[in-house]
Amino acid sequence: MARKLSRILLGVNDPPKKSSKQDVPKETPKEVSEEAPKQDSKGKSVPKKPAKKSILDDANAFIMDMEKVMKRPRAVGKDDKLKVGVDLGTSNIVVAVLDENNKPVAGELFSANVVRDGIVVEYLNAVTILRKLKGKLEGTLNRELLYAATAIPSGISTGNTKVIQNVVEAAEFQVSNVVDEPTAASEVLKIKNGAVVDVGGGTTGISILQDGEVVYSADEPTGGHHLSLVVAGALQMDYEAAEKYKVDIKNYNRVFTLVRPVVEKMADIVVQHIKGFNVNEIYLVGGTCCLKDIEKIFEKYTGIKTIKPHDPLLVTPMGIAMNDTKFS
Ligand SMILES: Nc1ncnc2c1ncn2[C@@H]1O[C@H](COP(=O)(O)OP(=O)(O)OP(=O)(O)O)[C@@H](O)[C@H]1O
Ligand SMILES: [Mg+2]
Repeated sequence: MARKLSRILLGVNDPPKKSSKQDVPKETPKEVSEEAPKQDSKGKSVPKKPAKKSILDDANAFIMDMEKVMKRPRAVGKDDKLKVGVDLGTSNIVVAVLDENNKPVAGELFSANVVRDGIVVEYLNAVTILRKLKGKLEGTLNRELLYAATAIPSGISTGNTKVIQNVVEAAEFQVSNVVDEPTAASEVLKIKNGAVVDVGGGTTGISILQDGEVVYSADEPTGGHHLSLVVAGALQMDYEAAEKYKVDIKNYNRVFTLVRPVVEKMADIVVQHIKGFNVNEIYLVGGTCCLKDIEKIFEKYTGIKTIKPHDPLLVTPMGIAMNDTKFS
């Protein structure tokens, strides 16, 4: 690997070759490099179709960039403006940092069960973890992070929204904005229509978008936690072991067969919610949608085209950060 790399670098630094007569081929054979153009039945040449672009190409590149900076944060200058998003979930607390142009800078994820069904059940623990994540990011970036946007899952009461905000403030962020999760997710995916289904750890949020507006939102108490319970029951494991087993791609075949009925139930819940709306696409986000082929189960069950971005777990936290209206 190292040798290969040094060879490439040597190649890059080689002085450009002087062109000499011998270097220039006397005649360029036309047909050698170019593929013969396709012809229709009348012999007319048919223009080449441009490479098919998926509607999530840009979103996927954005998410992959986020993945990279979570492993290796990007260096930022003292005057660079930063945006922060805090996602307090049932399974994970995620903090995403972007620059003012929404380019990923850094991120942290901590698995913790401080929230249940959208309600903060372990307030002090949540604050302690978030403070640590903030401190870690500030240390790496050598910058203070003053503000953060946070989010509320769909269907949460105002009282609980306040608690989520309080956690973020107790961790010494000033809350610049509180957004709703599906809107945050749709901004990352750059979509204006369809249903965004966020299958997290303990909840599944269903939101319908029409022309960029959320016209319907609901939250159901089902998520990855239930898949792990099924795996634990079937394989006689404790919950923690089942959770690890479930996310290990090596166990895909077994896990897929076990959880399929639960995922079908989730798809059925989605069908019930979107009845009466004109939904042509379902977009899957949330950590549970990292499960390989989950989109196939949804598509087959609902009969609606189902699209899943790269690393769906990061979508909502990134969208929250995009909505930080005050820069740190
Ligand atoms: N590769 C994977 N395969 C299956 N499930 C996965 C995978 N990776 C993560 N998960 C599941 O994703 C869930 C966590 O997702 P996420 O971080 O979106 O939840 P959350 O935001 O904390 O929860 P909620 O939105 O319900 O409050 C967990 O149940 C976890 O087991
Ligand atoms: Mg979530």
